[in-house]
Amino acid sequence: MAKLLFLILPILSFVVPHHGSVEFFRQPPRPLVYTLHDGPKSHPQQVHVSLVGKNFMKVSWVTEETDVPSRVDYGKVQSKYDSSATGEHSSYNYFFYTSGEIHHVTIGPLDPATTYYYRCGGSGQEFNFRTPPATFPIEFAIVGDLGQTEWTSSTLAHINASNYDVLLLPGDLSYADSQQPLWDSFGRLVEPYASRRPWMVTEGNHEQEIVPIIYPNGFKAYNARWPMPHEESGSESNLYYSFDVVGTHIIMLGSYADFSVDSDQYKWLANDVAKIDRSRTPWVIVLLHAPWYNSNLAHQGEGESMRVAMEEMLHNSSVDMVFAGHVHAYERFSRVYDNKVDPCGPIYITIGDGGNREGLAMTYKEPSPSISLYREASFGHGRLRIMNETHAHWSWHRNNDSASFAADNVWFKGLSSEPSCSQKIRGKNFQHDEL
Ligand SMILES: *[C@@H]1O[C@H](CO)[C@@H](O)[C@H](O)[C@H]1NC(C)=O
Ligand SMILES: *[C@@H]1O[C@H](CO)[C@@H](O)[C@H](O)[C@H]1NC(C)=O
Ligand SMILES: *[C@@H]1O[C@H](CO)[C@@H](O)[C@H](O)[C@H]1NC(C)=O
Ligand SMILES: *[C@@H]1O[C@H](CO)[C@@H](O)[C@H](O)[C@H]1NC(C)=O
Ligand SMILES: [Fe+2]
Repeated sequence: MAKLLFLILPILSFVVPHHGSVEFFRQPPRPLVYTLHDGPKSHPQQVHVSLVGKNFMKVSWVTEETDVPSRVDYGKVQSKYDSSATGEHSSYNYFFYTSGEIHHVTIGPLDPATTYYYRCGGSGQEFNFRTPPATFPIEFAIVGDLGQTEWTSSTLAHINASNYDVLLLPGDLSYADSQQPLWDSFGRLVEPYASRRPWMVTEGNHEQEIVPIIYPNGFKAYNARWPMPHEESGSESNLYYSFDVVGTHIIMLGSYADFSVDSDQYKWLANDVAKIDRSRTPWVIVLLHAPWYNSNLAHQGEGESMRVAMEEMLHNSSVDMVFAGHVHAYERFSRVYDNKVDPCGPIYITIGDGGNREGLAMTYKEPSPSISLYREASFGHGRLRIMNETHAHWSWHRNNDSASFAADNVWFKGLSSEPSCSQKIRGKNFQHDEL
């Protein structure tokens, strides 16, 4: 069995040197968690849900058996299903690995802020999820570079305790790195959480799984298992897309898709930001994998060509915040444009600290650049609670062994409510349009 492979996976247990400037003792990486499926082959596993269009949800799952129907039965009362929808299923090959049947079913229209109970393929346990609210406040859990170690487990437990609405993941999910059974194990590890709330992801370098000549375009597992609503946002690629949820326009960019000025992604982005109406979505948030601003020594400069290509467009569009992963640490910047403090630029946050097997990025540039306001190499996650049209609260929660500790807390004001920034913002509600 393929599972035996993982007994010989190297267990990374080297001790991370203690970083002198902070008194908190930083724990070393923890071992991989390999999660098994212990039900019959027809039973759903790796269940996760994602937002797709207004008031609809996509339910995705895997079965080892091939003739299970791609059907979801659902309703608002436990084990009473008054609605049902069917979708599609397929599997993919990667060298000698053949995936299970991967099912995707779109259900809805659904009511906001409502718990739905559902069953996949007519067998196995009942799941439930809660739809996002119709109005502010809304809370996003944000974490990148998740992986599947014991640290991942504690990060996920802390996130689950927050009762968030939607999870946003700026890339690097399973760290399968071409060992396909690890995608299945990751799906099973996150199922208790990703089946309860929508998870919206974009790709990181660990999703690529490119093999020259054989799989030159890569992303086979990622695209098959984690399809995001790209068609609904006019994108031809699952590697970049956008969606709206409660007054927030969220743009998921692809650090590993072409982003040059004549690329499809660039043209799509120009078209997408031109359609933003700040009277409908006063907040605009961007996620991508390789950070444009980063004072950690890890991955220095890797986001630079994308920044040069796209930063002006995001600045012109008054993007409120840009979240990145890739660097396994936490860092929060001031509002920045072109490497300088700019009151109308986005706030940049690196949140690549989910808990993967590679451990933390411990070493920073010294002295700290003035645009970097908080930086720390610890595992953890972030929470963005958008209170209303003008105010949001951001907190970063460090994994303090088995507990979670809110180490960084800050209020943000949205750019659409800043008179000096709003003159270039579209949206009929804004009194500064005439300036
Ligand atoms: C760790 O958690 C304990 C309580 O759970 C708290 O008192 C302490 O300040 C935390 N330390 C850090 C560095 O997070
Ligand atoms: C997540 O939180 C909910 C609500 O508190 C709880 O019922 C559920 O058991 C938690 N899930 C896990 C896997 O801990
Ligand atoms: C940004 O706005 C300026 C001023 O309106 C304009 O000249 C420039 O072409 C815009 N750049 C992009 C990338 O949209
Ligand atoms: C928005 O929320 C902030 C923080 O809770 C509050 O101070 C402010 O008054 C709210 N604004 C409106 C218009 O409700
Ligand atoms: Fe990465």
